[in-house]
Amino acid sequence: MRIGVLCSGGDAPGMNCCIRGVVRKAVSEGHEVIGIMHGYQGLLDEEFYINRDGKATMPIRSVSGLSSRGGTILYSSRCDAFMTDKGRKKAAKNLKKHKIDALITIGGNGTLRGALDFSKVWNGQIIGCPATIDNDLKGTDITIGFDTAVDTAVEALDKLRDTATSHERMFYVEVMGRESGYLALCAAIAAGAEIVCIPELIDSYEAIYKRLMVLKRRKKDSILAVVAEGDELGGAIDIQKGVRAIGPEPFPSRVVILGHIIRGGIPCYGDRLFGASMGVGAVEALLAGETGKMIGIVHGERVLTPFEDVICDRKEIKRNLLDLLETMSK
Ligand code: F6P
Repeated sequence: MRIGVLCSGGDAPGMNCCIRGVVRKAVSEGHEVIGIMHGYQGLLDEEFYINRDGKATMPIRSVSGLSSRGGTILYSSRCDAFMTDKGRKKAAKNLKKHKIDALITIGGNGTLRGALDFSKVWNGQIIGCPATIDNDLKGTDITIGFDTAVDTAVEALDKLRDTATSHERMFYVEVMGRESGYLALCAAIAAGAEIVCIPELIDSYEAIYKRLMVLKRRKKDSILAVVAEGDELGGAIDIQKGVRAIGPEPFPSRVVILGHIIRGGIPCYGDRLFGASMGVGAVEALLAGETGKMIGIVHGERVLTPFEDVICDRKEIKRNLLDLLETMSK
């Protein structure tokens, strides 16, 4: 079997571990792996990973030393042309031309949506691997890159706490999460933040102001507010402005936007392990004849879920996490 592998959408730490898993499993079982560069764009442009011998395949050694590398060696992109029928038909033609029988797509919601649409025009097998720092896919408890991204946010929050305490200040810290607040919530709980603003929770400038007054009365000397960039009140700058408009600030505030720093860095052990497991599992699924599904992990077990059931606009946040925040941020 000739298996194409690509990464698409926002990169996530551990994607390389997943590619490594795909190559190690497929090649050791006697199959060939073709690395497709720049996600779906590379399918349209026929852009493939070229190994040290100048060939367009990924041998076992092509993935050596990848466990500790963030980002993706296959590069990633968001591809508008692939969203059209014409684009997807061209991609199917290119796969046929290069005798690629099966595809493994590594990415988040957009990547899997693309895979679902593509499965309607291409008769080869497709399996998706969940990789996004947003952790907003159904059919898996966790996504590749999420844990590392939370660690990165927590490290920054810990540092900001030091300076916040020294100056008795408040920091509005914005983290990624255009549609999802999972990352912001988990980072906030782990760092002991007092306030979290996420798209899944309805809040208001007035409610934040009131909460700050309560915390002031409780003799808090510093405040961390973690803001997901997609919160309905706006980003950290908007929220600071909105709260300031209500009255004198209970704590003098500053804004920090962590931005794309959150997506980079050395994958933590969990993302390495999970990435490898998803890569190996995706190959096993293809060899078992599966298609049109995402591999994931639910209650510690690998599971396959049809693409249409994993894509979602908003994954529900677990109540117990919200309760934990409530208890811990007193
Ligand atoms: O990877 C997911 C994500 O981080 C979102 O949370 C964020 O809004 C988006 O990617 C931004 O990505 P880019 O700047 O690459 O378009």
